[in-house]
Amino acid sequence: MIKLFVPGRICLFGEHSDWAGQMRKFNSDIRPGLALVVCTEQGIYANAECSEKLIITSLDSDDKEISAEYNMHLPELRKVASEGGFFSYIAGVAAYMLNYYRIGGMTLNILKMTLPQKKGLSSSAAICTLTARGFNKLYNLNLTTHGEMECAYGGEQLTPSRCGRLDQAVAFDKGIVHMKFDGDRLNVNPAKIGAPLYLVFADLNAEKDTMTILRDLNSAYPYPKTSEHRGLHILLGEINERIIGEVTAALEEGNIQHAGKLMTEAQSLFDTYAVSLSPEELASPTLHTVLNDTALKQWVFGGKGVGSQGDGAVQFIVRDSECGTKLINYLHKTYGILAYSIAIPKTAAVRKAVIPVAGHGTRMLPATSVIKKDLLPVVDFDGKAKPMLQILVENLRSSDVEEICLVIHHGEEELYQSLFGDTVEFAYQDDALGFGHAVLQSERFADGEPVIVCLGDHLFTSNTEESAFTQLIAAYEKSKQLTIGLFELPLAATPHYGVAKFAAETALSVLVEKPTVEYAKQNLQSNGKYYGMFMYVITPHVYAELRYEFDGNNTVENLQLTSALNRVTRKFGAIGAIISGRRYDIGLPEQYRITVADYGRV
Ligand code: UTP
Repeated sequence: MIKLFVPGRICLFGEHSDWAGQMRKFNSDIRPGLALVVCTEQGIYANAECSEKLIITSLDSDDKEISAEYNMHLPELRKVASEGGFFSYIAGVAAYMLNYYRIGGMTLNILKMTLPQKKGLSSSAAICTLTARGFNKLYNLNLTTHGEMECAYGGEQLTPSRCGRLDQAVAFDKGIVHMKFDGDRLNVNPAKIGAPLYLVFADLNAEKDTMTILRDLNSAYPYPKTSEHRGLHILLGEINERIIGEVTAALEEGNIQHAGKLMTEAQSLFDTYAVSLSPEELASPTLHTVLNDTALKQWVFGGKGVGSQGDGAVQFIVRDSECGTKLINYLHKTYGILAYSIAIPKTAAVRKAVIPVAGHGTRMLPATSVIKKDLLPVVDFDGKAKPMLQILVENLRSSDVEEICLVIHHGEEELYQSLFGDTVEFAYQDDALGFGHAVLQSERFADGEPVIVCLGDHLFTSNTEESAFTQLIAAYEKSKQLTIGLFELPLAATPHYGVAKFAAETALSVLVEKPTVEYAKQNLQSNGKYYGMFMYVITPHVYAELRYEFDGNNTVENLQLTSALNRVTRKFGAIGAIISGRRYDIGLPEQYRITVADYGRV
């Protein structure tokens, strides 16, 4: 059985640009649509397992259990989808996916919906995404987030409901995503936030008719016929591009005040260019009464309408979480409206880590002929005997690393899932062609982001408040360059490890894998000391170098990480971060003895 969660979403900037951008199919003068969308903390929780049929249980709005059962037959599922209603979304996605993938059925138990329905938070897109994710995970389809979005969208298209592409942002789970709509093409990427962002969102309890708004605004597309039509094209085109560009930069810099100002400006531009096309719906008296309330200024940086606009809902960027609470109380007291807050934490400089555990572990034979090296037991600080890898994964998680990828052999998934459940992802290396080759297999997981690379046979403790990994991430955040976590080595130990030499203060000049003692002594001293490399934050340049080396040499038997790191160091520079702490090796018998004796003592 697997657990599933999918949130709702609110469009922060760029509403209506999704369908407008799609119109580029018909009129290439239209600019691509751009939007920033935030995923809510509220969402839909479910569990799912494989079964022969599609069996759904859920709760209706009065918390009464409802259920349905369908055969996994295309005509039956399509018919259910076309009839509309709650189950139609699930049946639609099942039909869409059955058409493209070899899937069986699914028992989907929807346990909890904390998402207010029909409040413009996109609960239908969330249900569709949840269904797509369930099939993806249960049948190991290996779909990316984009793949899940396509299936969710394709499934919803089989129902009478017509959600925009913007709603598919919910597939991203949390944070803010940047979306681009270019004809039928959709690009979605997580946006970076340089400082915590606090939002307040409230339903205005007023009247609005989304269908009328959409019909009225759509009349200006694809070819503008009047000056008002041209105004809307400019608003959803050039103006939207400028605002999204500025707000993206402001959020990345952590200039939340400026982002708030842009939110207010976006509303005033919407009023200037869009309202005359649908005056009844878009004059939005209630929205403007709330937005123009001067008492709000003390708490908010800016605000605007939500979704299709009109008198539906309002959103604010607030100064901090305390201001958010005060605003929520005020809105309730003064206008009788219920508001929710959303806090979006600063984006971590490094969110992902890779741990290769596909080596032979020959230096730990014969133990490693019956147990993988990374599963050798070590007693943790909590007194529990754990497979060493479990301690490493727990340390990464407590250092705020969100996604962890293990490089394993095919067939080992179950073993690691029994330890970590769904919290780890996998990449595969079936032949041990070297540490660099193992890292290269995680290129898709990294997806252009910087990632921590750990040795799968080392543990770390810290001498400071910050963990060893947090120290490494902090060093990367300052330089945004390849960053290597170093520990001092006695000269005699240098032949067992990769050794780095400093050029200047923090910059590294050269990295050498397992040098001889003589070579290290002659060439690798930094201020009379020797530094071994034990953890890394690698950049996309490192993957590019690994790929270049691997593709250029199909007889390679041992692709080292160090040679790729050396080339990146020469071309783009690299930082050495001396970690204040201690390292524990599991990969050499004498070192393992020390690790078992010393690690986890309080
Ligand atoms: P080591 O260099 O210690 O290699 O790998 P190894 O194969 O585990 O051990 P020996 O040298 O035979 O004793 C460091 C980490 O990189 C992984 C290992 O599983 C270990 O976690 N690794 C190494 C791979 O995943 N693939 C490889 O081809 C090599």
